[in-house]
Amino acid sequence: MTQYRLTPLAQSLPATVPFVGPEAQERQLDRVFDARLGANENVFGPSPRAIAAMADTGHWMYGDPESFDLRAALAAHHGADMGNIVVGEGIDGLLGYMVRLFVEKGDAIVTSDGAYPTFNYHVAGFGGTLHKVPYKDDHENPEALFAKAAEVDAKLVYLANPDNPMGTWHTGAALARAMNLLPQGTLLILDEAYVDTAPEGTALPLDWSDPRVVRMRTFSKAYGMAGARVGYAIGAPELITAFHKVRNHFGMNRAGQEGALEALADTVWHRDVVAKIDAARQRIAEIARQNGLAPLPSAANFVAIDCGADGAFAKRVLDGLITRGIFVRMPFVAPQNRCIRVSCGTPENLDAFAAALPEALRDAKRG
Ligand SMILES: Cc1ncc(COP(=O)(O)O)c(C=O)c1O
Repeated sequence: MTQYRLTPLAQSLPATVPFVGPEAQERQLDRVFDARLGANENVFGPSPRAIAAMADTGHWMYGDPESFDLRAALAAHHGADMGNIVVGEGIDGLLGYMVRLFVEKGDAIVTSDGAYPTFNYHVAGFGGTLHKVPYKDDHENPEALFAKAAEVDAKLVYLANPDNPMGTWHTGAALARAMNLLPQGTLLILDEAYVDTAPEGTALPLDWSDPRVVRMRTFSKAYGMAGARVGYAIGAPELITAFHKVRNHFGMNRAGQEGALEALADTVWHRDVVAKIDAARQRIAEIARQNGLAPLPSAANFVAIDCGADGAFAKRVLDGLITRGIFVRMPFVAPQNRCIRVSCGTPENLDAFAAALPEALRDAKRG
């Protein structure tokens, strides 16, 4: 056999991942990063209770394909019904299921230009046609997104609140008002990955069963469990039931399920970590200002720093940081790409960033 019979769509797609992982960069640089501040992980880690639960897990057993205990705990936590919730392999996995359920070749889908790219990757994988709406003043623009959805008869519109890569956010009340513009027949995927680190009032204040929206949450950010791959979608029961048509039934590993249960229960640890993330945001902003740069206000676990020039300049700053052992990332698209994006780190991580930034800037200015 000389030719695999891939679908024409698969043949047309590049073999890629939306991000180059820090591990790949470390292999290329032949060194380990001193500070891993590029992937919006939570360096403060999971609750010790979650760590103990994951260590005690019987790995020889499959996870419960219904994630029953975790869904029950999440339902109680959110004042929702279990039928409102499906657990999956992180938001990334759930976005894949959503797209698989909704998107056929040529279907119109709307997102922001430069928004979280994993969604786009899934849409491309099912042959959807992406329509991209520009950011407005470094914010995703719900009104423009919903107007575009009406114009192209989109099946899905994707919006992250707070946003990655800029860290900006809308109040839940403003978003609920904007949803009056959401056309009939368009479903809003509201990615609330960072809502736990956002000010009170950022979450969408609508009924969990509102059929116009599905909300995505994760244990990867404030709960510090990115490597365990636990996320969940909350929406109307009819929509949640549809996930069971396509999802990977043993995709959830038992350790992740049990760790997430403990992480959710350990409210003291959670509160403490959210406070540490806030302190780190302030420190990153301070380091930026000390170097004459402008930090953007952030509700997420990272801060976008405006480097004050174009994308090429920000890329030189980024490269200078990377060669000095500081892993950071930057937005892909202008004008957001005038920024670098720095994830919250430990005080030691941020000391290393503070030491490297002036040198990286000096080199970047030399061109
Ligand atoms: C907006 C947004 N959504 C989803 C994710 C990924 O979440 P998960 O780890 O649950 O797949 C990220 C991670 O950076 C993100 O920034």
